[in-house]
Amino acid sequence: MDKPYIFITRKLPEEVIAPLRVIGEVAMWPYDDVPVARDVLLAEAKKADALLTMLSDRIDREVMEAGEKLKVVANMAVGFDNIDVPVATEYGVAVCNTPDVLNDTTADLTFALLLATARRLVEAAEYIKAGEWKSWSPFLLAGTDVHHKTIGIVGLGKIGQAVAKRAKGFEMNILYHNRTRKEEAERQLGAVYCTFQELLQAADFVVCLTPLTEETRHLFNRQAFQWMKKSAIFINASRGAVVDEEALYEALVTGEIAAAGLDVFTKEPIDPSHPLLSLKNVVALPHIGSASIETRRKMMERSCRNILAVLTGETPEALVNT
Ligand code: DGY
Repeated sequence: MDKPYIFITRKLPEEVIAPLRVIGEVAMWPYDDVPVARDVLLAEAKKADALLTMLSDRIDREVMEAGEKLKVVANMAVGFDNIDVPVATEYGVAVCNTPDVLNDTTADLTFALLLATARRLVEAAEYIKAGEWKSWSPFLLAGTDVHHKTIGIVGLGKIGQAVAKRAKGFEMNILYHNRTRKEEAERQLGAVYCTFQELLQAADFVVCLTPLTEETRHLFNRQAFQWMKKSAIFINASRGAVVDEEALYEALVTGEIAAAGLDVFTKEPIDPSHPLLSLKNVVALPHIGSASIETRRKMMERSCRNILAVLTGETPEALVNT
């Protein structure tokens, strides 16, 4: 029997993908900083038994139609909004992701972004490097406190709960909104369930960690920003399209909210001339939530294990379309 053919859409370290080479023929897009070209993806999908994909790859009906032998798409991310899962299911293709291994790393970055936005760290770092520091002064680059404030987490999944743990360490009052109640988190972290509107009206920090679905697209719209306090700081570390970016820009410019820390954008990479990037009260990062070397390696390894499992007839650790 022919060895299965596995295509990886970014260049990954050889030692990480070695287990795949044991069972299959492996080909890789040769760059780690350039997304796979669409025509290459489609041509490779045609030959592939397995695809190891990135969140920047659009895996839609066209890919499924091309993938005559395709059995599994292993996305190297916990989010899988880049994949049309119902269509994959229709074609009998397993879709896998990488939950759990990135919870703490993503929570660290989310909290770092919250702190950086509240305490104006990016502005302060730019200020000193630009030689603008002429004297100490009482309100020089004064931000807002984080400790003892109220955090409102929208999406209390595993990453949300890891953020709540960090917030507890800062003695914050923790509110959350989620599709389902999280009683364990309520008991252990003292998190209090609220409606979406109640959370927005009460929180000093609104942290978006909900996955992107048809229900959550543009959840943070003009009305949502109007419900927030004028002093509120909005943090998004999930997916850009959960936010109506025009409404966010307007809220930041008109003083409807105080500031935003954003790790994700509707279009990635965001256009450098995007109005949000021109604002002093925006801290923007290039989607680095899970970007520690340790965690990215674990995500790669997990993606490889997901492929190995499907190709050897086992149940993968993280199957999205059960
Ligand atoms: C994910 O895994 O979905 C994260 O957004 C990657 O940083």
